[in-house]
This record gives sequence, structure tokens and C-alpha cells, in this order.
Amino acid sequence: MSNRTFTMIKPDAMEKGHAGAILNHITKAGFKIKALKMLKLSAEKAGEFYAVHKERPFYGELVEYMSRGPIIAAILEKENAVASFRELIGATNPANAAEGTIRKLYATSVAENAIHGSDSDANAKIEGDFMFSVLEQF
Ligand code: RTP
Ligand code: MG
Repeated sequence: MSNRTFTMIKPDAMEKGHAGAILNHITKAGFKIKALKMLKLSAEKAGEFYAVHKERPFYGELVEYMSRGPIIAAILEKENAVASFRELIGATNPANAAEGTIRKLYATSVAENAIHGSDSDANAKIEGDFMFSVLEQF
């Protein structure tokens, strides 16, 4: 079990001005920030990041969404980080997300759901390294 996960505050949450509240929610839950930056993904980079969903009907919409404006990317540390963070953000569809979760509070739809969280230790490492150089990871 790894103690790190990777997250992105997605364009919809950035546009609505929720970035500060979401980062506060995350750190209050005990996650330590080990890398952090604001950037805008190109469509190519967003497509690469979500390549696992290439065959899904929502892939085109997902790439457009994730590349339409700036995001905040971060590497987070806490015991049992991946599972603990998925619990904090809630279900993919905010309609099914538990009360008090980040998606329940800040997401509007299954497509525009405010935040990303890695789904495994292996993907947390791959995704963190995709977005941050070794010099940017602490
Ligand atoms: P994420 O990877 O962003 O943390 O989200 P997740 O694991 O909860 O959900 P996943 O199945 O990996 O889906 C990735 C992202 O694709 C968008 N999506 N749109 N229109 C749709 O039916 C649909 N389904 C998924 C969401 O932005 C979702 O987070
Ligand atoms: Mg996922």
C-alpha cells in the first residue's frame, strides 16, 4: 500500500472559483501536499492522460472538458492515500456521491465532476510522474 495519490482540480471547479475551498478541504482531511501546480493541458496531453478511456463514448467530451481551461494538479500524501482520497471525493456521479464529499459539494454532473483522484497505487505513481518532474516532487 502506497501513501501517495495524485489529484487534479478540474476546469469546471476552477472556473467556479472553488480551488481554494477544495484545497482547504483536502488539507483539513490530513493530506500533505507533496507537489502542486496550475497548468492548462493541451487536448493531446488530456487525451494521453485519459487514454484508458479512449474507446468510451464520452472520451471526446472528456478531452475537450479537461483541456478547456487551467487545472490544479497535486501529489498528496496520507496513510492509505488512494482509497482515503477516493472516499473524500465521492462517487464519479455527484448524484451518487455521499454527503460532505468534494463531488457532492462542488460537482455538477458525471461529466463535469470537479476533481480527479487516482484509482490505484500504480496509477498514482504514473499520473504524478506524468505531471511533475522529479525536481517538483517533495
Ligand atoms: P477520475 O478518473 O477523473 O478521478 O474519475 P473516476 O475515476 O471517478 O471516473 P472514471 O470512470 O475514471 O472517468 C473519468 C472521467 O470521465 C468523465 N466521465 N464522463 N459522460 C459520462 O458518462 C462520463 N463518465 C465519466 C468524468 O469526468 C470522470 O471523472
Ligand atoms: Mg478514474
